[in-house]
Amino acid sequence: MKLLVCGGAGFIGSSFVRIRIADHGDDVVVLDKLTYAGRRENLEGLGVPLVEGGIEDPVRVAEALDLGGAEAIVNFAAETHVDRSIAEPDAFVRTHALGTHVLLEAAREHGLRMLQVSTDEVYGSIEDGSFTEESPLRPSSPYSATKAGADLLVASYTHTFGLEALICRGSNNYGPRQYPEKLIPLMILNALHGDPLPVYGDGLQVRNWLFVEDFARAIGHVLAHGTPGEAYNVGGPDECPNLEVVRRIVELTGAPESLIQYVPDRPGHDRRYSLGSEKVRALGWAPRVRFDEGLERTVRWYRDNEAWWAPIRSGDYRAYYERQYGRSLGRR
Ligand code: NAD
Ligand code: TYD
Repeated sequence: MKLLVCGGAGFIGSSFVRIRIADHGDDVVVLDKLTYAGRRENLEGLGVPLVEGGIEDPVRVAEALDLGGAEAIVNFAAETHVDRSIAEPDAFVRTHALGTHVLLEAAREHGLRMLQVSTDEVYGSIEDGSFTEESPLRPSSPYSATKAGADLLVASYTHTFGLEALICRGSNNYGPRQYPEKLIPLMILNALHGDPLPVYGDGLQVRNWLFVEDFARAIGHVLAHGTPGEAYNVGGPDECPNLEVVRRIVELTGAPESLIQYVPDRPGHDRRYSLGSEKVRALGWAPRVRFDEGLERTVRWYRDNEAWWAPIRSGDYRAYYERQYGRSLGRR
């Protein structure tokens, strides 16, 4: 299949591209703005053409579509960090609202199928039980609110124009090549460097962990077998409170537990996310990687791939870290 993958230089997008080429022999073109989170290194060795540009730019989108003769668009392009959306929401509105609209118009003009990659955060927080695709959207941060807006726009294009659009809502992903602003890679790298491990609030918030390759496979599966106009939840096999995640990382890295530090909570912090995934399982997808195994693989990957993270730990990231945590990182 010929695919235009938007945001394909990021964490999940690049895993998707790798799997589509290796397992399905797809022809892929990537369109990516190469923000702080998008990296050419993530596509190294795959031989994929990369068009540098924003999904909100119709000229660049048209160029990328012409280049590969795409049969479908898969959209990963997004601003993805809740803490950044609290500090600076502008880019979230631009990419999620305007960008998704430009892609929908392009898909409509060319008669293409489009898959929008979304998140469990659009449903908000849940104390007990799990969200289904019928649950109301109650996003709580500028990140999740703009993602929910994009989902609604996508659904409207199927309803109004008959566009073959699908939505995949994933739970918290983790694995190789995740930017170290997110909980798991941040804690792994800090633990390996002897830096403090900043736990927000009481650390008892619960996330539903999904290994990145499992999400990438689910997206391909929904693209091929899903019903246009439908949304599919893709939840991980295990839930775990943050503090427990951090303790396991301490164990796996051999760092002292005294590095754990409680810091002020995130404003509007969602307590628990949990997705029911019966609908996508009925299509024939199931997760393959349990949290214990995936976390071990992830720690090993960061340990073995200093060349990937060293430039991040020595660049703009240090200024971001200082703003976010009010302290600087230790050695590079
Ligand atoms: P990421 O931050 O690693 O990558 C995002 C990519 O999008 C980067 O390559 C970036 O350069 C690119 N990008 C940003 N704005 C762009 C724009 N305007 N035009 C073109 N490219 C742009 O994010 P990720 O974790 O790989 O997330 C990918 C998608 O999956 C997002 O839509 C996110 O909402 C969704 N998602 C993520 C998770 C998670 O836990 N990481 C869970 C569920 C869903
Ligand atoms: P994060 O990886 O930012 O994902 P999300 O907010 O999309 O779930 O955070 C995961 C959880 O970890 C969330 O409850 C916030 C918490 N967290 C910390 O306790 N400390 C940190 O330094 C970070 C980045 C997150």
